Amino acid sequence: MDENLLFYAAIFLVSYILTKKILHKFQKHPPTPFPTIPILGHLYLLKNPAQIHRTLVKVSDRYGPVVQLWLGFRRTLLVSSASAAEDCLYHNDIIFANRPRLIAAKIIGYDYTTILWAPYGPLWRNHRRIAATEILSPHRLHLLSDIRTEEVRSLVKGINDHEAEGRDCTLEIKPALLELTNNIMMRMIAGKRMYGEAVETEEGKRFKMLFKELLAIGGAFSAGDFFPFFKYLGLNKAAEKRCKAVFVKLDKFLQDLVDEQRGKLMEEEDHVGKNSKKKNLIQVLLGLQSTDPSYFTDDIIKGLVLILLLTGTETSSSAIEWAVALLLKHPECYNKAKKEIHEYVGRDRLIEEQDIQHLPYLHCIINETLRMYPVTPILPPHESSEDCVVGGYHIPKGTMLTLNLWAIQNDPKVWDEPSKFKPERFENVEGDRVGYQFMPFGSGRRSCPGENMATRVVGFTLGSLIQCFEWESSEEEVDFEEKVAVSMLKVKPLQAKFKPHNEMLDLQFCLGVLSEVSEFSRSFVAVKKECDALIYKCKADVEALKCSLEVMEEYQQGNHEAWDYAVKKAAFKSSFPEGVAALGSLMLSYVDDEVNYPVKEDVKTILEEEKVPDDKTGEN
Ligand code: HEM
Repeated sequence: MDENLLFYAAIFLVSYILTKKILHKFQKHPPTPFPTIPILGHLYLLKNPAQIHRTLVKVSDRYGPVVQLWLGFRRTLLVSSASAAEDCLYHNDIIFANRPRLIAAKIIGYDYTTILWAPYGPLWRNHRRIAATEILSPHRLHLLSDIRTEEVRSLVKGINDHEAEGRDCTLEIKPALLELTNNIMMRMIAGKRMYGEAVETEEGKRFKMLFKELLAIGGAFSAGDFFPFFKYLGLNKAAEKRCKAVFVKLDKFLQDLVDEQRGKLMEEEDHVGKNSKKKNLIQVLLGLQSTDPSYFTDDIIKGLVLILLLTGTETSSSAIEWAVALLLKHPECYNKAKKEIHEYVGRDRLIEEQDIQHLPYLHCIINETLRMYPVTPILPPHESSEDCVVGGYHIPKGTMLTLNLWAIQNDPKVWDEPSKFKPERFENVEGDRVGYQFMPFGSGRRSCPGENMATRVVGFTLGSLIQCFEWESSEEEVDFEEKVAVSMLKVKPLQAKFKPHNEMLDLQFCLGVLSEVSEFSRSFVAVKKECDALIYKCKADVEALKCSLEVMEEYQQGNHEAWDYAVKKAAFKSSFPEGVAALGSLMLSYVDDEVNYPVKEDVKTILEEEKVPDDKTGEN
């Protein structure tokens, strides 16, 4: 009996192995480029990582949109067409919702527990839920819109000051944009800025250094990812050591942030505890930690904060830099965008974030920028968790997916003249995707959770830069050479000449006052100082601005009615009354929640109510 059982088991095993082998022979596998070098496979294709998207286009042009590569011992699927992308991110979405277990993601990514590198499963789902409900959902973004407004205004003021201080009106735009996105993210995450007016906090400096060091360790891959035996022979030690050294500093930076918020939370429990609107992300996570300490460990909190800082800053700032560069090269598009903003927003108020939805051409510019220069030209790698079929080919479990988004979005078979900047091609397109031909934020379960926020920040910032300044390239030809390093960067950072728009000057003065208001906790001493500087700058409006100073003084005395009156008087005296009235109205709305002073809905109402005297003497 026992012998029989053994015999049947052996027969079963042999036929199972044979069937698998035979079936494998008949399964259709994707083409593989020649040559496949023993052990190295196709690693030679990665010899110029900065231009990897273009190198891989040459491969797909030759072998088709679905290609199998061997990166060392790692089986890799290269996808370069919209229909194959649809197979991966729609028909096999769950199967490809995994990420490969790369060494850097283990060391830097808290042992694969961060939102970006966690395998598809409950931990990843929880991260996505928290990120969405606490900062990235439309509701949360709406509640946090003040942060973005203040930071974009502060950027505009910073550029203005650059000129007012008599410095050359040429600006390298990217550092200012990176500070903007860092400040926005940091305020949402930890309730504080990293960069202030002409000052860089200790944290700002530390974060910049760490970001550089992260770039220097060479992105996500190391040799050990392609040759598993390296680990056993100890050949990957140097790379791992470098990664660990950066991680130790990064972890300390993040732990300091968490500890600081923990301390604040304890101090402020009574004031802030019950008002979730005022809690920052770390404080919310620490709240969850107190109810479920074994799940919400400090490492989980730090991992989420790290990825949000990494994914939410460089991406949006690069996109804005590319958009400005493209507009400088294409004045006809730049003028069309200016016209759209001036027609919808006008010249008597600054653009607001809510205006963006009414500026379709600006939206087309952003789409066209992200089509030509996608922030992630190659999607972060996915990995199949089961066998599946892509483009009619059999793809085994454990295959790493390399999706060449740049190739799809610049495919001449799909896009007419893909290398030409033509925002008009997106006119009448609904939303931020065109099937699988244009998906700068990815698609499916693993797509970007920050899309909503990125669209707002990029649109609002670009709109403000166009409305407030006249831009011009500081070189004869804008340089468009690109390189891939975490995101798609300009090799030569954009330098642009700018000039504040005359008609926007008064409003920009308002900005100065407003940013002082928020920067110094609404301390009117600071506002007064700012106004003194404004008076000096704006000879034409000296009278009006003097009145504004009276305004401050009245306010400091607590005389709110007199303040309101002085604002209107200042408006009447100004050569640009709407501007000063706007200042008053904006300032009133800033202090409103503190003093409960009635806010006038709209500048025009103020002017209409108080019949403007013809001689503009300001006396009523
Ligand atoms: C213009 C700006 C941005 C672009 C073009 C962009 C694009 C992308 C893309 C293409 C992916 C990969 C999708 C995939 O693997 O299939 C991604 C992932 C991600 N993005 Fe963004 N992103 C931007 C801004 C942001 C912002 C502002 C945040 C957060 C504040 C953010 C957070 C993330 C996170 C956490 C992931 C990983 C998602 C996961 O693995 O589940 N991104 N983004």
